[in-house]
Amino acid sequence: MSGIIDDHSVINLEGISKNYKVGDIDVNALIDVTFTINQGELIVILGPSGSGKTTLLNMIGAIDIPSKGHVEVLGYNLTKANRHALAAFRRQHIGFIFQFFNLLPTLTALENVEYAILLQKKKNAQEKAREVIKEVGLDERVNHFPSELSGGEQQRVAIARALAKQTDLILADEPTGELDYETGIQILKLLVSAAINENKKRTILIVTHNADIAKIADRVIRLRSGKVISDIKNPSPIDPEELRW
Ligand SMILES: Nc1ncnc2c1ncn2[C@@H]1O[C@H](COP(=O)(O)OP(=O)(O)O)[C@@H](O)[C@H]1O
Ligand SMILES: [Mg+2]
Repeated sequence: MSGIIDDHSVINLEGISKNYKVGDIDVNALIDVTFTINQGELIVILGPSGSGKTTLLNMIGAIDIPSKGHVEVLGYNLTKANRHALAAFRRQHIGFIFQFFNLLPTLTALENVEYAILLQKKKNAQEKAREVIKEVGLDERVNHFPSELSGGEQQRVAIARALAKQTDLILADEPTGELDYETGIQILKLLVSAAINENKKRTILIVTHNADIAKIADRVIRLRSGKVISDIKNPSPIDPEELRW
């Protein structure tokens, strides 16, 4: 995706560290991570399992706060926010897509999407949900429960749920990790085409351990053992259609 990248920063991380205590052992999941992401960038965060990718995305997505350092997202200081403030921010401003879909099992595809819009206290939730479900090609599955959908279909619902919120920031944690290759490509295509949000450029972060997926990004940030080991712009991102892995 060739992006109109301007100077408007949407994510500012300064010296982020995250430690988990497991019994007597301190796990340093993130160590002094600093970077800025601008509006409209399509970023891939690339690293092997255990390198801190999910921990990092959780700091940006207001799921957790760092042990040290400063986090600012969309102009909000999340550094020391309490759980309630984090949840409110996340509900309004973050479209999150997970490896294991995280759909509510007792709600249908349509209801899963509708519920996310209702939580934002926006109007015409069902109508909007129908529109977006159609955009992801699932209009014939609206009344199915997650257990009645394939992995790829469930991930489409999860993408519809994130898009329906009309947020400027989409975070995807290993979104193709559970899917076969062809379904994975379709999911990446949907994510790339989500870059436009009512004429405004969305910012999209995709976390993966798959180096091939990095080829679709405007910029690739590599993590290793909790540290950023490189942060490189990609002059010629390719279309997901051209990916092979
Ligand atoms: N809630 C937690 N409690 C303790 N250790 C954790 C927790 N979450 C992650 N870790 C540890 O932090 C490191 C980074 O994990 P994670 O961010 O999940 O990496 P990745 O997503 O790249 O696989 C790993 O060593 C992992 O075991
Ligand atoms: Mg992870």
